[in-house]
Amino acid sequence: MAGSGRLLSRAGWVLLIGRLWTRRMSTTMDPTKPLVAVCQMTSTSDKEKNFSVCSGLIQEATSRNASMVFLPEAFDYIGGNTEETLHLAETLEGDIIQRYSSLARSCNIWLSLGGFHEKGPKWETDRRIFNSHVVLDSTGHIVSIYRKTHLFDVDLQSGVSLKESEFTIPGSRLVPPVNTPAGKVGLGVCYDLRFPELATALTQEGAELLTYPSAFTVTTGLAHWEVLLRARAIENQCYVVAAAQTGSHNPRRTSYGHAMVVDPWGLVIAQCQDGTGLCYAEINLPYLGSVRRDMPVQRHRRTDLYGQVTMKSSG
Ligand SMILES: *[C@@H]1O[C@H](CO)[C@@H](O)[C@H](O)[C@H]1NC(C)=O
Ligand SMILES: *[C@@H]1O[C@H](CO)[C@@H](O)[C@H](O)[C@H]1NC(C)=O
Repeated sequence: MAGSGRLLSRAGWVLLIGRLWTRRMSTTMDPTKPLVAVCQMTSTSDKEKNFSVCSGLIQEATSRNASMVFLPEAFDYIGGNTEETLHLAETLEGDIIQRYSSLARSCNIWLSLGGFHEKGPKWETDRRIFNSHVVLDSTGHIVSIYRKTHLFDVDLQSGVSLKESEFTIPGSRLVPPVNTPAGKVGLGVCYDLRFPELATALTQEGAELLTYPSAFTVTTGLAHWEVLLRARAIENQCYVVAAAQTGSHNPRRTSYGHAMVVDPWGLVIAQCQDGTGLCYAEINLPYLGSVRRDMPVQRHRRTDLYGQVTMKSSG
């Protein structure tokens, strides 16, 4: 181009240096763009080992100044069979949550514990559990618990067969988005991702991030994982944060992986590599605001034609 070789004017230099400075700030510490860390791991039935891997990942995220770490569904363990899965379950007062609580406090970091095997209220008689997504603040307190509402009862011809409802109690309510240093986080778990009403209801309640900690099977993951995550992000103009299990847990169960973060425009802005690890993304809420302002789809809803999707408050 004709003018491209010309020296910059003085004002041009000031502008350029200003831009570079802003860019530098945004990659180090910009309080308006909090950093989230998303975990990918391979849980087995060895809770001790799994905790040590997760705590290593949380410490790594802490040293990168992330404000919140997201762990996948079944971060605590994946049992080899139903009996083992039930045998290892705990209550919210048990050892596992206690340990994560002290870790949150010592690292001064928020944690999304994306799917904990929680003993149900009548455990002694019925031996049934909840699949509970627990959020801890940076002082280690439980600020929210969402119990997975859509259970994975699937029998595919490809060989995937899981009947979660045989030993899991479906949660009875959605929970309001949680105010965190990364924004307002709406809680889901894995299979919930397939139900757009849940995402819409949480967005109506103010969610800016939707979370789907998961352990997707390889078959369904290959076909549906990324497209569902991006669809929820685009429809709701939200960040979507999806921690994931990956690889072989036992001879009978393997997960798809591909933990990722999608931005409100539908772009995959972070994704884990193969195996255990983390990926990071900046949450840019002013950007989310501009996407919603430019294309106000929430206001364009024709609730007169198909009704309103809202969060029922009780239950
Ligand atoms: C627990 O999870 C970690 C993280 O993926 C994995 O490396 C480890 O092998 C698992 N536990 C055991 C007993 O192997
Ligand atoms: C984390 O924050 C500290 C204190 O503000 C800063 O000195 C350090 O460079 C930051 N580390 C990274 C990886 O951004």
